[in-house]
Amino acid sequence: MIEFQDISKVYQGKAGEIHALRHVNLKIRDGEIYGIIGLSGAGKSTLLSMINGLEYPSEGAVLVNGINICGLRFGELQKIRRNIGMIFQEFNLLNSKTVRHNIALPLIIAGEDKAVIRDRVDKLLQFVGLTDKAEQFPDQLSGGQKQRVGIARALVTNPSILLSDEATSALDPDTMESILDLLKRINRELGITIVMVTHQIRAVQKICNKVAVMQSGSVIEEGEVFRVFSNPQQQVTKDFVRTVVPDVITPSVCRQIRMESQENYEVLRLKFTGQNALGDLIYQVNTKFSLKTRILHATVTELNDQTLGILILQIIGKPEQIAEVEEYIREHEVQCEEVKCQYGL
Ligand SMILES: Nc1ncnc2c1ncn2[C@@H]1O[C@H](COP(=O)(O)OP(=O)(O)OP(=O)(O)O)[C@@H](O)[C@H]1O
Ligand SMILES: [Mg+2]
Repeated sequence: MIEFQDISKVYQGKAGEIHALRHVNLKIRDGEIYGIIGLSGAGKSTLLSMINGLEYPSEGAVLVNGINICGLRFGELQKIRRNIGMIFQEFNLLNSKTVRHNIALPLIIAGEDKAVIRDRVDKLLQFVGLTDKAEQFPDQLSGGQKQRVGIARALVTNPSILLSDEATSALDPDTMESILDLLKRINRELGITIVMVTHQIRAVQKICNKVAVMQSGSVIEEGEVFRVFSNPQQQVTKDFVRTVVPDVITPSVCRQIRMESQENYEVLRLKFTGQNALGDLIYQVNTKFSLKTRILHATVTELNDQTLGILILQIIGKPEQIAEVEEYIREHEVQCEEVKCQYGL
């Protein structure tokens, strides 16, 4: 378990104090893939770096498996660091050394036996799919392959925690997907807890089970990915989630309904989760009520093996009839809210 207890961090900048973190409280449980997302400067890297003592808080405590990182002597910290691997956006590889040597480096530094190192590196090369690249140099590899080397190096000491700081941010979309698949395998097959800092909501959607959203040094929203994605509360979260789970009508659809609609109507956003996701509620509405419904937008998204369906409906009818429909939908435990055409067209 990793615990941030009331963490604040103040840097002394040229123009005065910079509050990089403000009273952050988080718990990351063993076996989770925990995403920390936010815009540039939100404080994500600062927070992540406190888990392995690369940064220290100005106030508060960071506990890793119950041990306060902040109070440790260097030797004790080194021991804990062997249990925590880290990967970065820029890979941080030594270009003058082979792939094999780069991966072996933490074990060489620790003075490990040569045969043990060879065996361990061979296994990891196979795990990340780079056996045929062992004797090549980083400059001869693609971005995705370099990140695989970084990952193998981070795993060479057999850690139980992996920290990832924007590890997929410099990669093209297909390569990003394959690295995310690898991270998921590391979590599932090796049982490693992953803390992943990113500004890519797709990365959170694909592999995380928990997420914290940061803004200006604070955690503004936190919890199960499915819960946060299906009902985001903060504007920053809504903006992130919207890019992978679209929940608005397009400007052209908006324009069209404004131009043509003489009759009274309302536009409703329905969110279907769990058992309701594949239900027949719309069929029921159409047979039970004598009014017109039109589908303006529909998406079905898979999140953490659960299904989230979003439907935007235009309901044309008298206000009292529409109110009855809304009540009927809510009785079926489907989230329902009115949507305004946002585009002012
Ligand atoms: N060593 C430092 N000295 C002074 N200010 C710093 C230092 N490190 C970070 N900061 C400031 O702290 C704030 C948080 O920085 P941090 O790097 O944690 O953000 P981030 O969310 O990781 O951003 P990005 O997405 O751009 O990587 C920023 O305002 C940054 O300028
Ligand atoms: Mg950062």
